Amino acid sequence: MGRCVLLFLLLGFLMSGVAIPLPPALRALSNVRLSTSFTSLPSGDMEHSIRYVQQKVDHFGFKTDRTFKQRYLIADKHWKRDGGSILFYTGNEGDIVWICNNTGFMWDVAEELKAMLVFAEHRYYGKSLPFGANSFKDSKHMNFLTSEQALADFAQLIRHLKRTNPGADNQPVIAVGGSYGGMLAAWLRMKYPHMVVGALAASAPIWQFEDIVPCGVFMKIVTTDFRKNDPDCSESIRRSWDAMNRFSRTGAGLRWLSEALQLCTPLTSSQDVQHLKDWISETWVNLAVVDYPYEANFLQPLPAWPVKEACQYLKNPGVSDTQLLQNIFQALNVYYNYSGQAICLNMSETSTSSMGHLSWSYQACTEMVVPFCSNGFDDMFEPHTWDLKKFSDDCFNLWGVKPRPSWITTMYGGKNINSHTNIIFSNGDLDPWSGGGVTKNITDTLVAITIREAAHHLDLRANNAFDPMSVQLARSLEVKYMKQWIRDFYSSLRKKH
Ligand SMILES: *[C@@H]1O[C@H](CO)[C@@H](O)[C@H](O)[C@H]1NC(C)=O
Ligand SMILES: *[C@@H]1O[C@H](CO)[C@@H](O)[C@H](O)[C@H]1NC(C)=O
Ligand SMILES: *[C@@H]1O[C@H](CO)[C@@H](O)[C@H](O)[C@H]1NC(C)=O
Ligand SMILES: *[C@@H]1O[C@H](CO)[C@@H](O)[C@H](O)[C@H]1NC(C)=O
Repeated sequence: MGRCVLLFLLLGFLMSGVAIPLPPALRALSNVRLSTSFTSLPSGDMEHSIRYVQQKVDHFGFKTDRTFKQRYLIADKHWKRDGGSILFYTGNEGDIVWICNNTGFMWDVAEELKAMLVFAEHRYYGKSLPFGANSFKDSKHMNFLTSEQALADFAQLIRHLKRTNPGADNQPVIAVGGSYGGMLAAWLRMKYPHMVVGALAASAPIWQFEDIVPCGVFMKIVTTDFRKNDPDCSESIRRSWDAMNRFSRTGAGLRWLSEALQLCTPLTSSQDVQHLKDWISETWVNLAVVDYPYEANFLQPLPAWPVKEACQYLKNPGVSDTQLLQNIFQALNVYYNYSGQAICLNMSETSTSSMGHLSWSYQACTEMVVPFCSNGFDDMFEPHTWDLKKFSDDCFNLWGVKPRPSWITTMYGGKNINSHTNIIFSNGDLDPWSGGGVTKNITDTLVAITIREAAHHLDLRANNAFDPMSVQLARSLEVKYMKQWIRDFYSSLRKKH
């Protein structure tokens, strides 16, 4: 598979404007009170029940009545039947328990919003498999994996929740999601406005399709993250590709490279070296995506500010090839061996197995076609053009399907979304995915929040003592909008009666 498919896999999530100045929204916030419920949670206090709901495999055709069980998590400790609300996480490409574990924000605000928390798993991920173990077998079984079907599952689940939880029927539902889940939250509000009163779409690159944004923006932001730590760091990485190419010319060179990088499987061909370079590129990308200010385990267990940690080994781009690649090895170890448990570095692994790599590859090959490119000048990567024909051929070989790159724009509007209301688009400026996100206000109720010093949906993570003030302010602003939506819901309800 070409590099670009792999890339979106691992990037399965998560982008921010480089040097986007603190938006006036945040500056104006200095007088907004920080939410009182932002005390840190004792770990393990994410008590929830696991439930299942019967869903149609195909919401849009009538030929089959087949159903499957969709998993969802529910927590109602702080929920109030009187004047409460429902926060509904629109699950993305992974196990919903893993996603829940990384979405502390909802737990932190549950009490303040008197909210029931619901985390809905996306079909074809985790335990929500339409055809059980056969779900990934071929394109016939994968055929029902689309964002439209997923949104329909969410809408049906909301109806189900309202029927089965007395008191919930007359309550406002707010969609929340990060990354692809953030796109789904925004799209749920756009397509089912009668079901959710608003949406928090965190780090949702809804414009990373077709040529709405330049294909190079993503890699450029990754590079800026490394260069901001130290220009010698991005320069070391830029020079490392040619160093690897020089070693790849001889058998002895390949052996040296395999040993120096302690690879589990030795390199034997130039094709393997291409794979190695793709895997290393993905590693730098992932480090930028999860460059959080404290120790965390989202894609991998990592130290605080992992880009800075990796860059401490990459301070001297002018050294010999052997020294440069030994330094690269040290930097890779920050990502792959923070635990100290790695015996060797495994090029088949880039991130947590809680992510559904297989299903995401199918989505990337059908609807979710995200063009990536690099030029080696504005970024620290080897030049790669975006080649739709090759991408399509690779997809056909892998899945027997061809991508429809313009469908998402047709379905969800691209830049023409002004007629919608009540969506918050939040983006961290360190997040490579912010490049395809909404970072400017569109209307009074389609608002952008840009968070300085924040990586991929940091705002959805639990409150932490090491959080920069920018993310604390962003969260309070998000809660302020949510409260407004809830108030509007109840006041229009009162008018009806
Ligand atoms: C977005 O709109 C809100 C509400 O009107 C405003 O407070 C804020 O300054 C705007 N943000 C940006 C990024 O312009
Ligand atoms: C979620 O967190 C719980 C409690 O810390 C942990 O036991 C569990 O393994 C985590 N699950 C996933 C899939 O990350
Ligand atoms: C991982 O770290 C441990 C402890 O520092 C070290 O012994 C081991 O060699 C490292 N593994 C790799 C693959 O570098
Ligand atoms: C490398 O990772 C793959 C995929 O997780 C796994 O199947 C394989 O056993 C691993 N290889 C080694 C040597 O650990």
